[in-house]
Amino acid sequence: MSTESITQIPALPANATPQDILLAGVKAAEGPVRLACSFSVEDVVIIDMVAELGLDIGVFALDTGRLHEETYEVADALTERYRIAIEWFFPRQEEVEKLLREKGTFSFRESLENRHECCHIRKVEPLGRALKGLAGWVTGLRREQSVTRTGLAPIEIDEANGGILKINPLLEWTETQVWEYAEKRRVPVNRLHKQGYPSIGCSPCTRPVAPGEHPRAGRWWWENPEHKECGLHRK
Ligand code: ADX
Ligand code: SF4
Repeated sequence: MSTESITQIPALPANATPQDILLAGVKAAEGPVRLACSFSVEDVVIIDMVAELGLDIGVFALDTGRLHEETYEVADALTERYRIAIEWFFPRQEEVEKLLREKGTFSFRESLENRHECCHIRKVEPLGRALKGLAGWVTGLRREQSVTRTGLAPIEIDEANGGILKINPLLEWTETQVWEYAEKRRVPVNRLHKQGYPSIGCSPCTRPVAPGEHPRAGRWWWENPEHKECGLHRK
């Protein structure tokens, strides 16, 4: 980490609210900041907070080509409610065509290597393009979501993406807090959440969970918990 980047992380009180984190992050970034939106309940809550604060944070989404219909529905509902333009990024056509030609349509189920390859083509590479020219990005990551997310900070330097700021305003919030906010503010949410999907990614890699199961148990359900990342949040 460079000395220059260390000085960019603002000090936050231990009890900083998501709004405090957003405001401090945008100020520290000193340049364009956008929200990476998967249309999860976390992301729509952040969209509402951004609107309430009147912050200039645009929204981008990575369309992997394998999203649920319900995800597009909530995207439209958000556009209408908040009058925002969502910037969509798609995978490179020739990469997807090559993957399907050589490995078929469900290669990601066959090995961790194949799954990472698909996530790289459909999510990680487009993310690189989405982050071009940005001084920071906002995510809906929460610490309690996964063993892979315990070491995060509310505002951090994203070395994996060129040293820009990564702002995680909901990091310390529980699932209950997120839902309380969403219901109080009546934000549009993905219908799948109410059908047993606490966490939603691509359609063929997400399934509903049983009551009491870990919220991310339905993501890549055939893999171990320590592998359940798509590569968007590399350290
Ligand atoms: S993943 O690594 O397992 O896929 P998860 O679904 O928990 O991530 O989402 C965590 C955060 O990553 C979201 O709140 C959002 O900021 C970002 N994100 C995930 N998927 C996308 C997507 N398709 N488009 C844009 N941002 C995304
Ligand atoms: Fe491919 Fe599944 Fe990753 Fe989506 S979540 S990019 S379908 S492996």
